[in-house]
Amino acid sequence: MRVVFTLNGRVVEVDVEPNEVLLDTLRLRLGIKSVKRGCERGECGACTVLVSNVPVVSCLLLTVQINGSNIVTVEGLQSDDLFMELASEFSKSFAVQCGYCSPAMALTSYAFIKKALENSLKPSREDIAKAIEGNLCRCGTYPRVLMAIEKVLERRTQVR
Ligand code: FES
Ligand code: FES
Repeated sequence: MRVVFTLNGRVVEVDVEPNEVLLDTLRLRLGIKSVKRGCERGECGACTVLVSNVPVVSCLLLTVQINGSNIVTVEGLQSDDLFMELASEFSKSFAVQCGYCSPAMALTSYAFIKKALENSLKPSREDIAKAIEGNLCRCGTYPRVLMAIEKVLERRTQVR
């Protein structure tokens, strides 16, 4: 089946099996390796991508379902100021250990920060923890991720 969607700002067209999941299309057909294969049943969050800035697990999403959608992975955010600031904060806060969960964790965090800034929200630490709860980290970086998100939010709120 032919599917057309936007991937990291570029229109792509692929021929896929009706039962093919987006995780496989991205990794195997389109070479997007930041999207990780973990549990393959929607529990670990390692395969998260952004669909119109909403984090979605790509292992449970059929590629045919995303026809016409706007998909973003970390490969598409390398020139995005907010994302790069967050990536730098992840690094400074040691929020990346083995790195397996990190692209997905960063995408989820980015989407959360962006939404908070756009809507002038002041999320609590509990709100932030809830936002990232779908991303499991076997290295236990959660407190560092929370710290990184808080720092970016604090800085961005002061700047405005
Ligand atoms: S691989 Fe998709 S949620 Fe675990
Ligand atoms: S940094 Fe290793 S799984 Fe999260």
